[in-house]
Amino acid sequence: MKKYSPKTQDDTYFNLKSYENLYDKSVREPEAFWAEQAAQNLYWHKHWDKVLDYDFTKAEFKWFLNGRLNVAYNCIDRHLEKRANQTAIIWEGNEPGEVREISYQELSNEVCRFANVLKNKGVRKGDRVAIYMPMIPELVFAMLAAARIGAVHSIIFAGFSAHAIHDRVIDSDAKVLITANVSLRGSKTINLKKIVDEALSKENPIQTVLVWKRTESETKMREGRDVYLSDELKKVSNECEPEILDSEDPLFVLYTSGSTGKPKGILHTQGGYLLYATMTHRYIFDYKEDDIYFCAADIGWITGHSYIVYGPLSNGATTLMFESTPLYPNAGRYWDVIERHKVNSFYTAPTAIRAIAKAGSELPKKYDLSSLKVLGTVGEPINEDAWEWYYHNVGNENCTVVDTWWQTETGGVMITSLPGVADMKPSYASKPFFGIQPCLVDKDGNEVLEREGKGMLCIKYPWPGQARTIYADHERFKKTYYRDFPEKYFTGDAAERDSDGCYKITGRVDDVLNVSGHRIGTAELESAIVSSGIVSESAVVGIPHEIKGEAITVFCILSKEHESIKTALSLVKESVKKEIGSFASPDTIYFVSGLPKTRSGKIMRRILRKIASGNTDELGDLTTLADSSVVDNIIATTLGT
Ligand code: WT7
Repeated sequence: MKKYSPKTQDDTYFNLKSYENLYDKSVREPEAFWAEQAAQNLYWHKHWDKVLDYDFTKAEFKWFLNGRLNVAYNCIDRHLEKRANQTAIIWEGNEPGEVREISYQELSNEVCRFANVLKNKGVRKGDRVAIYMPMIPELVFAMLAAARIGAVHSIIFAGFSAHAIHDRVIDSDAKVLITANVSLRGSKTINLKKIVDEALSKENPIQTVLVWKRTESETKMREGRDVYLSDELKKVSNECEPEILDSEDPLFVLYTSGSTGKPKGILHTQGGYLLYATMTHRYIFDYKEDDIYFCAADIGWITGHSYIVYGPLSNGATTLMFESTPLYPNAGRYWDVIERHKVNSFYTAPTAIRAIAKAGSELPKKYDLSSLKVLGTVGEPINEDAWEWYYHNVGNENCTVVDTWWQTETGGVMITSLPGVADMKPSYASKPFFGIQPCLVDKDGNEVLEREGKGMLCIKYPWPGQARTIYADHERFKKTYYRDFPEKYFTGDAAERDSDGCYKITGRVDDVLNVSGHRIGTAELESAIVSSGIVSESAVVGIPHEIKGEAITVFCILSKEHESIKTALSLVKESVKKEIGSFASPDTIYFVSGLPKTRSGKIMRRILRKIASGNTDELGDLTTLADSSVVDNIIATTLGT
């Protein structure tokens, strides 16, 4: 297998030896290690009494007990003395060169004003604030404003449908929702406010909708509920005392899909989350004074929370946020942004790399990308070709590629290569971050003790960034992550470990799809398909896709004859768009007469996956099927015979 030697700058934080020493300490004396890091990296209004308290059987984890701090204070106020005039946020808008630069002083003023507006609308410590916004600086002001007053933000990715918003505001019981009239994405204008109106047309707990005008275009305002942020902001001062919170008070809820049921509101708290986001951002991206750091994710997902907002701002960094898409106006957009803003670290998903690579290797060569030192990837396994393309054509063989494995639930990166440390191996996420104790577990629940091996990936010791619960459903939290393997956190992923102790993540072992780096639950999709009203039953599987990683294939049974297959297809697609959002739209839909089930009624997705990817001669054992004749019928349907 190919390996590339580690890249070092004169001042890279670690080399192999210093990484190993510190890692060793972090697992030998975890409490001493984290206490030292917490003191160094964050400002505490009150020191904690105890570093860690935990109980795996109850799925209870507490960090820096009785410590008090404010996350917005850590991301803004503590930097003002030194960095008032330094740019905190570079915003690159939808059109190339549409740029805003926001200094730490301006960030402070805006966040305080937003916080005062929230207070005027009755938002108090512990209240939930839903945010459904485009990638504009006001989204960051809104989330930090919530954090400043101790409210809990719940950001809903702006690609979600009205139905998905409704579910989320109900579940989190939010009383204020912040949105914008429209969102601009490439050549598309999406009327966000209209989607919000539809979401709130059914019973819901929202009392106030604050609307930011992204453009001048008019939007319908509902008397008594909707107000323009611009009007409210005029009424308030730009000072707002931060609410000093307990280390374990909630910071945010972020919904993510699981293998069963509705999305789960993953809850993160203050001190541990911020510490973990801060350290991982600094060390993994080798962040140094004056660097320009660009994470191209959307703040609607965890990557944006931790690595556009909290990690970088807590480090006093300059973080670049990007409103547009990687292909607008062409596949050179990221390189154009990197050249113009002299970006030093860049972080994106394999799906974007593959989509851009398709446009050819000549494109990145047209830009000056020499400012780059670290290239990150996240969200799904990166195939070797995409890794090599990134390393050679974007990094010009001068950059460290950090393949960062983590999850919404982990708060920050868990397994990754680190600048200056070990050899880089394409498709390997590599080594655990400090304090992280990964292990592999076989199907009987036993830990794989040999150095080389494969199994289900678990984490066997707490870490500060870990999720604390599922909002309003701790039982589900316990059951999902802590029941199957006692004394361990179960990730839902499978992995391999090589003779150097490096990990390669091979993908989910549960019924969760990863489409273009978006995590989508099959159960959620299947219920959206059945909601079309024309389908009695459906089964969804993911099959390998060149660009998206996985493509969504649907097998479903029509409940009644339909005028035409074409209408039936569009009704099913429409239903997914309505229940979840266009990003979850199926790639292929087959109408079949039956689904392969075991005698106990469980759908055997393994068989469907093989059929969908054309491997019909590797179907394996079919004897457990209640009726094996359905298989021939399904194969015939997929072949169009
Ligand atoms: C799932 C988590 C964490 C940020 C974005 C996604 C997959 C994530 C990698 C990687 C292989 C990866 C896993 C994981 N995943 N990063 N570097 N290599 N797989 O967060 O939506 O919570 O999804 O994404 O399957 O469980 P998420």
